[in-house]
Amino acid sequence: TWTSENVVEDLVTSIREEVGDARVICGLSGGVDSSVAAALVQRAVGDQLTCVFVDHGLLREGEAEQVEQDFVAATGVDLLVVDAQQRFLDALAGVTDPETKRKIIGREFIRVFEQAARDVVGHADAEGHPVKFLVQGTLYPDVVESGGGSGAANIKSHHNVGGLPDDLQFSLIEPLRTLFKDEVRQVGLELEVPEAIVWRQPFPGPGLGIRIIGAVDAERLAILRRADAIAREELTKAGLDRDIWQCPVVLLADVRSVGVQGDGRTYGHPVVLRPVSSEDAMTADWSRVPYDVLAKVSSRITNEVEEVNRVVLDVTSKPPGTIEWE
Ligand code: XMP
Repeated sequence: TWTSENVVEDLVTSIREEVGDARVICGLSGGVDSSVAAALVQRAVGDQLTCVFVDHGLLREGEAEQVEQDFVAATGVDLLVVDAQQRFLDALAGVTDPETKRKIIGREFIRVFEQAARDVVGHADAEGHPVKFLVQGTLYPDVVESGGGSGAANIKSHHNVGGLPDDLQFSLIEPLRTLFKDEVRQVGLELEVPEAIVWRQPFPGPGLGIRIIGAVDAERLAILRRADAIAREELTKAGLDRDIWQCPVVLLADVRSVGVQGDGRTYGHPVVLRPVSSEDAMTADWSRVPYDVLAKVSSRITNEVEEVNRVVLDVTSKPPGTIEWE
């Protein structure tokens, strides 16, 4: 019978056999898959694993801390944090085109991760145990989609990892490749991965960078982060986290509208709430969030985030609208 306890035990055993006394590296994003994969490998081979977390500064409030503090405290993972916030801001300065933003963020991410991987590899060489494995949080649906297979085996030998240079040769270790998302969550709970990570809704790799319509800068990120934190807090309080697939909060940074707050006229920015229901993100419908919850989110954001004087609701399904605005 399938129990998360049995699955963890089996996977831990096979990871140990494959890895031996080699070293392993894992990129952590803060998402469910990479976190559970890392926690599994850590359970199997302990400090032979080094995790790398690239802080690109495009995460939401509290997410970097969730990885740097809560995840480490819960799992005991050896973590290298690379603070690359300024580097990403510099690379994104003045860029407004969505696809260009994505390309820049992807490119910088690979460069930073590659340097971190070299540092870890160099460090490991000095101890005589080379880094041979790279953990990936690939799930079963991804395996099927890409035409892979081969059951419980969780190692693909001599696979060159996309985006990493040829002279960094790792074997891929994909401990989740037989599991579906809900099973990954059960395994995560079994491994005591923090619930905030286990139940996290989807969040795009380019993060808040594609939720600022207009150029990305530190000030705009700070505004969006506060508005987003309020929306998430109220949706959670209303018990809607499991009903809603995700709720992007989007800052229309290049748009201003007139408002009145206190005794004064304001000329601030709108934020868009984009709560959606979906099964797989391929199609989606806008979520019928109760009016009183929307009212609370709206009044709190406009009261607490000075630069925002208007909150609007996106009532477009996908298609024709995508879930994200960029
Ligand atoms: P769209 O906006 O295409 O989003 O309807 C579908 C799902 O994918 C997420 N998304 C991304 N995830 N990198 C990612 O890792 C990306 O560039 C990206 N763009 C969209 C989005 O949050 C939604 O869950």
